Amino acid sequence: MQYKRILLKLSGEALMGDKQFGIDNDRITQYATQIKEIVDLGVEVAIVIGGGNIFRGVQAEQGGMDRTHGDYMGMLATMINAMALQSALEAQDIKTRLQSAIEMKEIAEPYIRRKAVRHLEKGRVVIFGAGTGNPFFTTDSAASLRAIEIEADVILKGTRVDGIYTADPEKDANAEKFDNISFDDVYAKGLNVMDMTAFTLCKENDLPIVVFDMNTPGNLRRVVEGDQVGTLVN
Ligand code: GTP
Repeated sequence: MQYKRILLKLSGEALMGDKQFGIDNDRITQYATQIKEIVDLGVEVAIVIGGGNIFRGVQAEQGGMDRTHGDYMGMLATMINAMALQSALEAQDIKTRLQSAIEMKEIAEPYIRRKAVRHLEKGRVVIFGAGTGNPFFTTDSAASLRAIEIEADVILKGTRVDGIYTADPEKDANAEKFDNISFDDVYAKGLNVMDMTAFTLCKENDLPIVVFDMNTPGNLRRVVEGDQVGTLVN
């Protein structure tokens, strides 16, 4: 096994599947199945999930809403996704704990680092909801921060593209994929892996990132087993 403790970052948009809004049941079940595969291998799994399928603070600002207000609404959106994912995981008999960066103790534990680590050691999947609990930070930043706090070996960024390319592969047919790239080269080439705050946190704390296609069943297991899947930044 390449990685013993991982932080899996999932996008909210990906949960929509082919829908225009909300959560696609088949997609979330497919994700839960992949997560179960690695839990069964003994990998300790923490998850941060976005909320863009429900609400995005940045776009709300473009529509005239106060950014801070929109960002808090986005944090609530991540909690909805986190609860849906928790339910999908438990439907597959995976033990889970949900922790929220914003206190809402009727539905989730508060975020307590030492408790999260203890849950992981006991084989529970820990889902971190509500981002970092602060406006102006993305869920990618929450993923970087939590991964460093729990001393994860890696951030696995599950997306719909299969890695980092020289250009956007959905727009440029000549785009070439990197199997491996350094943090410095990502800066130098101006590539978009995560937002700069999130990315810099990883670089400064020597936390590798793997960007991979989460929509292909089995890919998550292949990444943790060390197969060449996606792009490794280190
Ligand atoms: P261990 O003590 O390590 O066995 O962990 P545990 O999570 O089983 O113990 P605990 O007694 O803290 O939690 C039992 C259940 O209550 C779990 O499902 C927790 O997620 C849940 N729980 C704990 N604290 C809170 C809280 O503040 N709010 C909510 N909603 N649930 C909580």
